[in-house]
Amino acid sequence: MADVRPLPGAADGVLHSLFTSDQGGHEQVVLCQDRETGLKAVIALHSTALGPALGGTRFYPYASEEEAVQDALNLSRGMSYKNAMAGLEHGGGKAVIIGDPEQIKTEQLLLAYGRFVASLGGRYVTACDVGTYVQDMDVVARTNRWTTGRSPENGGCGDSSVLTAFGVFQGMRAAAQTQWGEPTLRGRRVGIAGVGKVGHHLVEHLITDGAEVVVTDVRADAVARITARHPQVTAVADADALVRTPLDVYAPCALGGALDDATVAALTATVVCGAANNQLAHPGVEKDLADRGILYAPDYVVNAGGVIQVADELHGFDFDRAKAKATMIFDTTLAIFDRAQADGIPPAAAADRLAEQRMAEARASVPRQAEHR
Ligand SMILES: NC(=O)c1ccc[n+]([C@@H]2O[C@H](COP(=O)([O-])OP(=O)(O)OC[C@H]3O[C@@H](n4cnc5c(N)ncnc54)[C@H](O)[C@@H]3O)[C@@H](O)[C@H]2O)c1
Repeated sequence: MADVRPLPGAADGVLHSLFTSDQGGHEQVVLCQDRETGLKAVIALHSTALGPALGGTRFYPYASEEEAVQDALNLSRGMSYKNAMAGLEHGGGKAVIIGDPEQIKTEQLLLAYGRFVASLGGRYVTACDVGTYVQDMDVVARTNRWTTGRSPENGGCGDSSVLTAFGVFQGMRAAAQTQWGEPTLRGRRVGIAGVGKVGHHLVEHLITDGAEVVVTDVRADAVARITARHPQVTAVADADALVRTPLDVYAPCALGGALDDATVAALTATVVCGAANNQLAHPGVEKDLADRGILYAPDYVVNAGGVIQVADELHGFDFDRAKAKATMIFDTTLAIFDRAQADGIPPAAAADRLAEQRMAEARASVPRQAEHR
């Protein structure tokens, strides 16, 4: 689950990536320790060009501290791009807590972690991620004002998968517009790999839109929940079987790395659009997809509904306002496809360019301190 690939352009060593990678250049990395509770955490701020760095807290039993730092660096960089393309006034950050949450997560440890978030004075805004939940954020929030993803009873937005699925659906409509000339999935066959929190909401949007849906999940109960509600939905054994099923759209909604060489070669779908993070298994897959005529909606663009939802919490959560913002994922995805077409590059590269452009413009518009002296 840990995404520990070295940053692009980095030589070996985490510190080297931190200071010198082509696209790294993190602003600040904080190592946190609280001996009493056993907390060891890394908070990485990749960029605050667009505003306070926003990104969740991952609680994971990393094999080494180096692996944890590398994951925090990668994930925080990804958040800069995601937040930039979501149109948020937030930079990218991410925290990782080292250890097995089942073994070491305690209220005292979460409070200690929250004090470290507080110590950054608002430069970092946290939320849930793998291994942390709404109830955990309620605890972390007791120590600082910069914790989102809390429960509705505590002024939070609750489960962010609702708008994540809505945003993926908007991205899929944009892909349909580009590929088939109409912003609807009506009459299309969509295969969803992973019908957990996001995937099951996505099924609802697709059925309402008139799509035919095929699903798979390693958990039989997750599939049964869908087919009990929608008997017309068919299920196949696994993701390999799903990509080989005749489909118009493939939606990876389980784990990262879903688009590897074998999958791309076997895909029958001509659109890929799903919620999973880091879908491209290695650099170059985006070009292979384009070469096969498969339109890939960049993962971090279409799955930004969740971060849009939690960012809204800082202003007093308003579901309709957050949903209106998530609706913009349709236009953003279209703009990326247009840019990809105009520049002759895959959509994933076009999304990166647009995000970098937005961050560069924000940096350029901030007067440098020296010029004010
Ligand atoms: N929840 C959010 O708001 C959010 C936001 C952005 C991105 N994402 C990403 O979307 C993906 C799904 O998130 P989620 O919150 O729905 O997670 P989840 O754990 O609720 O659901 C994932 C589902 O995938 C299934 N699964 C795991 N491995 C599988 C496999 N090999 N084949 C088929 N199914 C498999 C699981 O059994 C589970 O039902 C993740 O990659 C997550 O990082 C989620």
